[in-house]
Amino acid sequence: MSVVPNGGNGKITVPDLLQRKAADPNSKTQKITCLTAYDYPTARLLDEAGVDVILVGDSLGMVVLGHESTLSVTVDEMLHHTRAVRRGTRRALLVADMPYGSYHTDTAESLRNAVRFVKEAGAEAVKVEGGERRLELIARLTEAEIPVMGHVGLTPQSVNALGGYRVQGKTPDAAEQLIRDARAVEASGAFAVVLEAVPRELAAQITRELRIPTIGIGAGPDCDGQILVVHDILGLTFSQPPKFARQYANVAEIISNAVREYCEDVRNSGFPSDAESYHAPQATKVRKTVFIAS
Ligand code: KIV
Repeated sequence: MSVVPNGGNGKITVPDLLQRKAADPNSKTQKITCLTAYDYPTARLLDEAGVDVILVGDSLGMVVLGHESTLSVTVDEMLHHTRAVRRGTRRALLVADMPYGSYHTDTAESLRNAVRFVKEAGAEAVKVEGGERRLELIARLTEAEIPVMGHVGLTPQSVNALGGYRVQGKTPDAAEQLIRDARAVEASGAFAVVLEAVPRELAAQITRELRIPTIGIGAGPDCDGQILVVHDILGLTFSQPPKFARQYANVAEIISNAVREYCEDVRNSGFPSDAESYHAPQATKVRKTVFIAS
């Protein structure tokens, strides 16, 4: 019996991504494409354009909700946005970020929160930040049939502990720790690991060593896949995007121009036109009503 990949419908699954790495351990072909999304229309557009993995990132807090960091994002906010992305995603693997505080207390509480992402929002995997210190947690989640994506290097939920958003793994000791973190994520059962803001050479070494795919963001071109925040590639953020985020479109400018034109048309009575208006049928022309003031 021959096995049809993805059941023949092109749906991306966790085993597919592991299989891609197994088939291409040096990551020369079949790179994994990942982007974030936070709402239905964006998810549909990404999915239909062929992105492999859609992450509902807790970057939601910064790029959509206007917070200074990701720390205040709640489980309920993430569930709300994951549900919307779920409705727009058919082919891509849908991963939900577990926000700060949702997996930092005890394992039972973390497991309950992770289960909510699967049961209530339709996520197919969750992402947690941290390396060695997440060993037990990732093992517990995978044991409960929840695929986990790890995230090491610059972990934005540790911004206060790290003292800012900085490139990680630059000293020999820090590089050693990062390698240990990535190994721990793999050993605990994660199916992939995000490497954020780490030197290209270090990311390449980790990619060669791991059997699970590495997904880079500011980690150079040698990772098995790449992820970016969708607002960065579309030019929809208000702050200076990081050096690694390539802007592919200027959607902010397109929106501003469209809105200015609309306002001008309304002010000049150029909108709506007669063709954009409804008309009463001839037979039922609106009767003149006379109101008598009492
Ligand atoms: O929250 C996020 O968007 C992320 C990625 C960009 C890796 O964690």
